[in-house]
Amino acid sequence: MRQHVNPLSSNFNQIKRIPSLSEMFGDSKLNLHLDIGCAAGEFLFDLALVNTSWNYLGIEIREKLVKNAKLKVLKREINNLYFVFGNANNIFNDKQSKFIIENLKSISFNFPDPWFKKKHHKRRVIQPKFINILSNSLQKGTLIFVKTDVKDLFDYMDCTILSNFYFKTIDKTDFNLSDSFNPNKIKTNREKYVMLNRLDIFERIYIKI
Ligand SMILES: C[S@@+](CC[C@H](N)C(=O)[O-])C[C@H]1O[C@@H](n2cnc3c(N)ncnc32)[C@H](O)[C@@H]1O
Repeated sequence: MRQHVNPLSSNFNQIKRIPSLSEMFGDSKLNLHLDIGCAAGEFLFDLALVNTSWNYLGIEIREKLVKNAKLKVLKREINNLYFVFGNANNIFNDKQSKFIIENLKSISFNFPDPWFKKKHHKRRVIQPKFINILSNSLQKGTLIFVKTDVKDLFDYMDCTILSNFYFKTIDKTDFNLSDSFNPNKIKTNREKYVMLNRLDIFERIYIKI
């Protein structure tokens, strides 16, 4: 069982310089998807290889995973995939990251850490302040994909996102998602585990209005 990293630790307060999109990607004009809490990035590697018309950015708080993922990107010469280390909340609280939010077409929060105890809810990645930062700079029409196997966490995230006037839910069937970030319906590692163990998955898609 892995030890969860406390995102509120002061270790994550210092934000390194974030490279520009043209430093991150071969073609900075492609649609950009952000995966928050991407772990070792396997999901993004799969996506980047099959869906070369998108750029993929992963943010992860475990530094070793990010270092290894970056080495793998270099070794495989993948030019539509980039990883950033740090606490996503702190990264986007920093003004230098505004350009990332402004350029996103979609964001995924796949199976975020649940932090079950009430006193630890403030460590959950989706927080009102974070959603506010996103709503201030995201383009209209940007999608947020949320998935978890923890009902209490789902309700918390759903309530936090919908408390912001600029987001509403959309139904997969009502909306043309064929060009969305994951047309091949690739599964994350946690999702594969959850499916193997026949656990419930709670998911929802939100759009910036
Ligand atoms: C349960 S894992 C899910 C990993 C992957 N998304 C999946 O579905 O298999 C949650 C991941 O989010 C990372 N994480 C937690 N809080 C974070 C934060 N504030 N910023 C960035 N990453 C975070 C954790 O280190 C962990 O790798």
